[in-house]
Amino acid sequence: MERVGRSYGRGARSVHALRELDTTVYARSLTAVMGPSGSGKSTFLQCAAGLDRPTAGVVRLAGREISRMGERKLTRLRRERIGFVFQSFNLLPTLTAEQNVLLPLRLAGRRRDTAAARRMLARVGLEGRAQARPGELSGGQQQRVAIARALITDPAVVFADEPTGSLDQDTATEVLGLLREAVSAHGATVVVVTHDPAVAARADRVLRLADGRLVQDTAGATPVCA
Ligand SMILES: Nc1ncnc2c1ncn2[C@@H]1O[C@H](COP(=O)(O)OP(=O)(O)OP(=O)(O)O)[C@@H](O)[C@H]1O
Ligand SMILES: [Mg+2]
Repeated sequence: MERVGRSYGRGARSVHALRELDTTVYARSLTAVMGPSGSGKSTFLQCAAGLDRPTAGVVRLAGREISRMGERKLTRLRRERIGFVFQSFNLLPTLTAEQNVLLPLRLAGRRRDTAAARRMLARVGLEGRAQARPGELSGGQQQRVAIARALITDPAVVFADEPTGSLDQDTATEVLGLLREAVSAHGATVVVVTHDPAVAARADRVLRLADGRLVQDTAGATPVCA
């Protein structure tokens, strides 16, 4: 991201959610984004992920400028190259766990690889629950399905906005462990917005926002390999 700004409204009443933000997220690392409520974390994530458009500056993903990309191209890029995990899980309630995991492949017009979906569900500790619907799963299990769904396309980046925000501490630790493992064991790239210092402690790098600005950029407990 280069000098990225995002403001809402005009004139004296405008809100600057992001201001002149410059940063690069490194591949195969876990980056935590922290900061007080309203500091611009979700706005940062959405601009980085191509879900929102900055009002200034440039966003590049895997070498391509996405900040000015046409909507159709951008939608395709998001489907094929980006994974999302939300605080509220966002699973489709009428689909089984396996069907939810297969959804990104379906949307991208790719082969319905049920074996891959099963493997991914096993990886997140849900072997045997492939046929369960979200309503039959606990919050932690639903978030595991969401993580399996985010990883199934082998995306360039997984973006997660407070993925452990609705979970109790033990479940949150397990879910975070899955994201950590996706990076350490499978080479994924993960950016996670969090209020939880325990999450940040297991990140390779912590970006801190305040009032829409990047105010701190520190290496986490786990060093990033070059
Ligand atoms: N659609 C919108 N219209 C107007 N202002 C907005 C809009 N979305 C966000 N903002 C403002 O932009 C600023 C940053 O919001 P953002 O949601 O990015 O914060 P956050 O750091 O994610 O906060 P939280 O920790 O509470 O989720 C806030 O002042 C917010 O009120
Ligand atoms: Mg937010």
